[in-house]
Amino acid sequence: MILVTGGAGFIGSNFVLDWLAAGNEPVLNLDKLTYAGNLANLASLQGDARHVFVQGDIGDSALVARLLAERRPRAIVHFAAESHVDRSIHGAQDFIATNIVGTFSLLEAARAYWLTLDEADKAAFRFLHVSTDEVYGTLAPDAPAFTEKHAYEPNSPYSASKAASDHLARAWHHTYGLPVLTTNCSNNYGPWHFPEKLIPLMIVNALAGKPLPVYGDGQQVRDWLYVKDHCSAIRRVLEAGRTGETYNVGGWNEKTNLAIVHTICDLLDEMRPRPDGQSYRAQITHVQDRPGHDRRYAIDARKIERELGWRPAETFDSGIRKTVRWYLDNPEWVQGVQSGAYREWVAAQYGHEGADARTGAAS
Ligand code: NAD
Ligand code: DAU
Repeated sequence: MILVTGGAGFIGSNFVLDWLAAGNEPVLNLDKLTYAGNLANLASLQGDARHVFVQGDIGDSALVARLLAERRPRAIVHFAAESHVDRSIHGAQDFIATNIVGTFSLLEAARAYWLTLDEADKAAFRFLHVSTDEVYGTLAPDAPAFTEKHAYEPNSPYSASKAASDHLARAWHHTYGLPVLTTNCSNNYGPWHFPEKLIPLMIVNALAGKPLPVYGDGQQVRDWLYVKDHCSAIRRVLEAGRTGETYNVGGWNEKTNLAIVHTICDLLDEMRPRPDGQSYRAQITHVQDRPGHDRRYAIDARKIERELGWRPAETFDSGIRKTVRWYLDNPEWVQGVQSGAYREWVAAQYGHEGADARTGAAS
């Protein structure tokens, strides 16, 4: 079996579902179930003996050591993290605890377990560390996309904590020989994306008649990848990646935030027109910019294509259409995640008025 950490989050749950759809190797899913973890994402696996869920913290060394000794996974795929940049700006404590200290603890538990394996299993074992393009910092408009050789220049508490975890993973390979692989991926979107992030927030707010809060001028650029393509890249790296290497994963799909919001509004205008006949674009509101906001990310994904033959299957047009459709078809999932804690976050980040009023100039 494989051990997946953070398998109840956005990408982790997509990964677990795709993994079990593609084969029969069981998954041990260790997730703390923070506000971002949601077992409803995995409801279709209820009663499926191939999925074993354990609620717990990656930083709980005794628990992780026991799980490794009892279940004897051949690989660990490490998704668990605090993942939202804005939350890291409000308070970095949990980001340091999970992304840095938690990853350290997991690496140590993995190393202790790995040392108990016989030579063949030791050679076959993999620790795949899932990371982000944000560790590279920001790009000028005409600069080439991030390659794996780009210097680390993290700018937010979140990206700094992920950069630290990447360095730990690298060192555990270099110093101890732990068979580590690292992936650095661009912005994901798709089903089960928590509506604090740009794309699901815009869909959910649009449908609720709330403002669509675009930070600053909305000209920041992200490189969007459909989540299922990220999952297939991880499966491919786990299967054939060279240990000690890092692989950048991206969609070759740079878009400004405003272009993303316009696309969502246009799709909703087509699929669920507003009763008053106006476009959802009327709900767009420019709000105060994110402090230290990175202007542009772009991934050069040629290495993973050249070495492992991976390319994204989805275009942005097909992926974003599927995503909007998914949110239209799953209002009960959205209601389920909009708990008291979610409402508190929205009020803290956007203010009560911003969260509830229906206003805004089209942009
Ligand atoms: P997410 O916030 O949706 O999910 C994180 C999951 O980790 C949740 O289920 C949460 O309960 C769990 N978790 C948090 N702290 C934990 C702890 N201490 N112990 C055990 N479980 C814990 O995040 P996501 O968007 O699915 O991202 C997953 C990983 O991919 C992260 O490492 C993130 O840095 C990375 N990544 C995300 C993106 C993206 O666009 N979302 C892009 C590139 C890389
Ligand atoms: O690049 C990979 C990263 O992508 C991951 O490592 C992170 O875990 C993930 O959260 C994501 O980070 P971003 O900060 O790029 O994603 P977010 O969805 O928060 O924001 C995307 C862009 O949209 C960013 O430029 C900020 C802007 N934005 C976001 C929100 C929530 C807005 O303009 N308004 C908003 O309300």
